[in-house]
Amino acid sequence: MLLAYLRRKVGLTGTKYGCGGGGCGACTVMVSRYDPIQETVLHWSVTACLQPICSLHGAAVVTVEGIGSTKTKLHPVQERIAKAHGSQCGFCTPGMVMSMYTLLRNNPQPTMEDIRETLGGNLCRCTGYRPIIDGFKTFCNVRTVNSSNGKCCMENSNSHNNESDISGELFSMDNVLPLDPTQDLIFPPELLVSKPCVLVVANRKVNISGHYFFILFFYLHFIPSFQQIMGKKKAERLCFQGEKVRWISPADLKDLIKLKAEYSNAPLLVGNTTIGPKMNLKGTVHPLVLYGGSIPELRTIKWRNNGVTVGAGCSLSVLKDVLLQGIEELGPEKSRVYQALVQTLQCLASKQIRNMAVSKICLSEEFFTDFGKTALRPDEILLAIDIPHSRPFVSAFRQAQRREFSFSIVNSGMRVTFRHDSNVVENLDIFYGGVGPTLVKARHTCKELMGRKWDEKLLVVGTQLLEEEIYVPPTAPGGQEEYRKALVLSFFFKFYMQVTLELQQKEVGMNDLPLEYLSALKPFKNEVPQLVPETQSSNDPVGRPNVHQAALQQATGEAVYYDDIPSVKGELFVSMVTSTRAHAKIISIDASMALAMSGVVTFISAKDVPGQNRRLWFNNPEELFAEEEVICVGQIIGAIVAETREQAKRASEQVDITYEDIQPVFFTIEEAIEHQSFFDPKRKLERGNLEEGFEKADHILEGELYMGGQEHFYMETQGLIAIPKGEAGELELYVASQHAAYTQVLVGITLGIDSNKITCHVKRLGGGFGGKVMKIASLSAIAATAAYKTGRAVRCVLEREDDMLITSGRSPFLGKYKVGYLNDGTILAADITYYSNGGCTLDESSFIMEKALLHMDNGYKIPNLRGHGLVCKTYLPSYTAFRGFGGPQGLTIIESVLHEVAARCGLPAHQVRDINMYKDEKCYTHHKQLFSPHDMVRCWNECLEKSDYTHRCLSIKQFNAHNHWKKRGISIVPLKFGIGFSKGFYNQVAALVNIYKDGSVLISHGGTEMGQGINTKAIQIASRILKVPMSSIHIKETCTGNVPNAAPSAASFGTDAVGMAVKDGCEKLMRRLEPLIKKHPQFTWQQLVVEAYCQKISLSATGFFMYAFNLSDGNAYYYFTFGACCSEVEIDCLTGDHKNIRTDIVMDVGRSINPALDVGQVEGGFVQGIGLYTIEELQFSPEGVLLTRGPSRYKIPALCDIPPQLNVHLLRNADNPHAIYSSKGIGEPPVFFGCTLFFAIKEAIAAARRERGLSESFPFSSPATAEKIRMACEDCFTRMNPPDRKVKTKPWAINV
Ligand SMILES: Cc1cc2nc3c(=O)[nH]c(=O)nc-3n(C[C@H](O)[C@H](O)[C@H](O)COP(=O)(O)OP(=O)(O)OC[C@H]3O[C@@H](n4cnc5c(N)ncnc54)[C@H](O)[C@@H]3O)c2cc1C
Ligand code: FES
Ligand code: FES
Repeated sequence: MLLAYLRRKVGLTGTKYGCGGGGCGACTVMVSRYDPIQETVLHWSVTACLQPICSLHGAAVVTVEGIGSTKTKLHPVQERIAKAHGSQCGFCTPGMVMSMYTLLRNNPQPTMEDIRETLGGNLCRCTGYRPIIDGFKTFCNVRTVNSSNGKCCMENSNSHNNESDISGELFSMDNVLPLDPTQDLIFPPELLVSKPCVLVVANRKVNISGHYFFILFFYLHFIPSFQQIMGKKKAERLCFQGEKVRWISPADLKDLIKLKAEYSNAPLLVGNTTIGPKMNLKGTVHPLVLYGGSIPELRTIKWRNNGVTVGAGCSLSVLKDVLLQGIEELGPEKSRVYQALVQTLQCLASKQIRNMAVSKICLSEEFFTDFGKTALRPDEILLAIDIPHSRPFVSAFRQAQRREFSFSIVNSGMRVTFRHDSNVVENLDIFYGGVGPTLVKARHTCKELMGRKWDEKLLVVGTQLLEEEIYVPPTAPGGQEEYRKALVLSFFFKFYMQVTLELQQKEVGMNDLPLEYLSALKPFKNEVPQLVPETQSSNDPVGRPNVHQAALQQATGEAVYYDDIPSVKGELFVSMVTSTRAHAKIISIDASMALAMSGVVTFISAKDVPGQNRRLWFNNPEELFAEEEVICVGQIIGAIVAETREQAKRASEQVDITYEDIQPVFFTIEEAIEHQSFFDPKRKLERGNLEEGFEKADHILEGELYMGGQEHFYMETQGLIAIPKGEAGELELYVASQHAAYTQVLVGITLGIDSNKITCHVKRLGGGFGGKVMKIASLSAIAATAAYKTGRAVRCVLEREDDMLITSGRSPFLGKYKVGYLNDGTILAADITYYSNGGCTLDESSFIMEKALLHMDNGYKIPNLRGHGLVCKTYLPSYTAFRGFGGPQGLTIIESVLHEVAARCGLPAHQVRDINMYKDEKCYTHHKQLFSPHDMVRCWNECLEKSDYTHRCLSIKQFNAHNHWKKRGISIVPLKFGIGFSKGFYNQVAALVNIYKDGSVLISHGGTEMGQGINTKAIQIASRILKVPMSSIHIKETCTGNVPNAAPSAASFGTDAVGMAVKDGCEKLMRRLEPLIKKHPQFTWQQLVVEAYCQKISLSATGFFMYAFNLSDGNAYYYFTFGACCSEVEIDCLTGDHKNIRTDIVMDVGRSINPALDVGQVEGGFVQGIGLYTIEELQFSPEGVLLTRGPSRYKIPALCDIPPQLNVHLLRNADNPHAIYSSKGIGEPPVFFGCTLFFAIKEAIAAARRERGLSESFPFSSPATAEKIRMACEDCFTRMNPPDRKVKTKPWAINV
């Protein structure tokens, strides 16, 4: 594939690997071709991981390195994403840049909708997308209008108040480079007209007007000349022979047919978006591939009187353009089919995939015969698709896990024609996808409804018939059978309403559709998040929105991540061999087949470990390699070391392991409770007298809330390079770790080598979120073992699927509670037992549980409060740290308690929250920590005011009264979040500050840069104290050789602590320089430094910071970060779809050191919270196998999930005496704000249920997926499908 070629053969590492399956956009590049028919060069964004090199014959490929660099000239796209703070960890940035660049090449003045569509396939796990849009919207010459208030969004400048003391002009357009299309790279003339050439594959860099760009030429056999392309000269067949695959590009259609007859089993590949992922991810090998992308006959488009014929080789993007042209020319009446198709195409996959993939559109179940199979004989090919436009009533429906860039759960196409001037059905077709192995036509229903009038009777009969005819077996792949059945009926109901409305408008038939039904027909529109407005600025770098220190390097692809480091001579690759059983004895391991494979060097397992085969964490051991027994699917048993990553991967699948299953085996929290399977220590925290509280209460409520886990889905997967130095056992590791010191220690223990011989280097991480603390240390120890055994450098890069399987994520939680409350909602007593699923080993779960308990009071003064915390031991991969570290779970469960109490009291939830809130100037938490809730209450009040909460509650009430099938809900929560490590000794860090004789400054510190901007803030602080420009200060990397024994960069504490250490180091140096400054006030900085050197004054200093507290005194945290968040959502009761309408956040970050970075953390954290509470759902099979591996099955928020109105306000005049320059830690707290969407959705469902006379208290768990929303909105359609309780079938997936 192109990606591997670019990264490993050509060394262009700006294009990133994120998933290998077209699902993340990190590998986006631009492919350009000359189109002889349109006589123009066309540019397409494509995913390089799925783009076969051989398909690029005659094409030019432009990568992020090609469009600009910091050394020559930046491209405006690169500059603007960087300056708008749209690059945090930077791993997604080159892909974003290339998507936008391609759009601008095709359309230099795009609309916001163009930008939205273009970026829909580029995932970012850090920024929350808003700053990326901010940067790119500057290319539009239109000002977007905010639909809710009619104002231009640029005028909604209420987020940062002018009185604020922080700088809020986060992004200025002053001095940015203008977009000048005339400066763009020209399409290589060689590819327009060229001559026959030699049999070589050449790649080269061409310098054109100061730009370097990369063009791939395939001079194989020959390059077809212009005349050949135009059909004047006969084209010839192209053949490429690889190690395992032969690729043939037929000369023309005749040749293709001939080849197909000869090699009928060879797939005909066009976009490679079906075959490619199977080859990349499943290891499928096709010895022969026929390429259909260059056959002109498959790309023709012919307009006919009654429709259009589109060649089967046309991409989905081309098809969409054709359909849009048809819509414009035919008008709305005649183009219904096209409108329905465009609506579906817009949500199907991403722009990049649509640019590559061909259409499968075919409304005939005779064509699609089974899962992935068609009626075509192996030697047949599909030539073209006829798409008629004459059908009057056509609609398409689709519901997916995420609105865009997601496979549908159920989709449907329906069409009806009527007898002349009547509402009598002449013909009806109803098709469903997602309810069987292939397309299903409701043949019987359609037949029965023909000849009937389109009225309510038809609806009733049709619904019953469909219910009988469309059977979704409980064993259906993907599960969700009840939901699917509900969608089948709901889609038909929607179609019924659509057609009725049109008949009404045409005055045919007598049906009246209730007005409150109409909103059900409007699909949710994806909108673009708006800009964060401005406040004032200052000259001091502290408090200013300085751009992330490495943003420009990240935007140009120059930033180096661990896997971008060129291979070392003799380097090997290691691939893990993992358990396929959840609990079993290892009987034997046979690696002989793997060892016989080409390129394989060795197999390593426990017996190859020279030191100790265990990872020790606070006295809890975990095996590196399972020795005798496996305790989860995905546990590492051994590893194959080979010359290349492909060889290692292939061979690791051939290691034969014999198991003997062991009982018990269980995976869920409930099962663990049954087995009383818990890790020690079991935790308890209590204040007041529970029994007294319950006695005084008017009511007692008992309930529970389940919160699913979450995958980190950092864009850069885990990995490292281990390089033995060959002297005294020295070993260098280039590793993506949030805790380099721990990795160093563990590698030492594994190899039996002292830490002083092991050096860990961490340049940057492509996202961490807590996931790169623990497991990366084990992977490092394994790679180090391989390096030790072979004496050669070893690289380990986990593929996305393996990363998700092996490293696990945030633990699921179950909170069971008993609450005593008064009639006015005052809570007198709450007894909550928290259960977390810890998986098979303890990892950090005990501390995660501790954090959940320490946050169980949130902002509420519940006088009698008790929490028990039990970490369940199950046979799943062990869960680990994740941004928030138990905080969101602890907080959400108490918020659920308040929500339920409000529902029971019949009071607004915000009122019950308000009444229970800490309000006194001096308060004690339930763990007896003294604090002032003053700023929390300010955040709460400001959030109520800025979100216009009261007024919007009324509007929502009105909306709900007038809309039966769509409902809105709103929710607001306060936040008190502890900052710092509750393990006291972790609250320390050091920094080394070196001043060189030329005046430049180098800082090394113990934190790791993973997008949060720790280096940028450190440089700002140093710049303030040393009084040198930021440009004179550099941070190269985190290195255990420079700063030893550092704590992990976690707990929202890294920047605080590092900032203080840097400050300390700089102040020490300034104290040494003070006498010279006094003596030579006229000296420049450089003169001063030279003089100091001559005076033998040390120009190197170590700064140190530590915070002392005693947990037994109740001081679990250094201080608290406060905030409040309000969100409004709208749900579609018929499908379960929801739309985030608006979110307002007021955050107390103290006096922000860098408001742009802090706002970025708030937004990014909140968007991760959107995923946690609404769409990210991990599914395990009943055998404990993680099913949701990779972006095609596991959906993190994409651009379409961001509320169009996302207002982040930083609290004014907020001080924090504890932290550096009165700032506050901000990395973790905002994740919890995602729960406002969960509770707002719950409110909206309650409104629907209220209208249907159902109880407003109903079981509902997080995440609030479309399935759960739909099924909670009970109605006649869901009731038609009661689950058959008698038949006990194995579920598709279990809730762990
Ligand atoms: C990230 C991602 C997201 C996706 N999302 C969606 C989605 O939301 N919904 C959805 O429906 N699909 C989705 N897809 C699937 C994608 O749309 C289909 O894979 C696409 O239609 C296949 O086109 P292709 O040209 O890439 O097929 P290829 O991979 O090139 O080939 C696919 C198969 O079709 C056969 N074939 C191709 N052309 C012909 C022909 N003319 N005659 C006979 N046989 C032919 C080939 O032999 C091969 O077996 C997604 C894919 C990816 C990678
Ligand atoms: S790596 Fe290609 S799309 Fe993810
Ligand atoms: S900046 Fe987008 S993934 Fe990190």
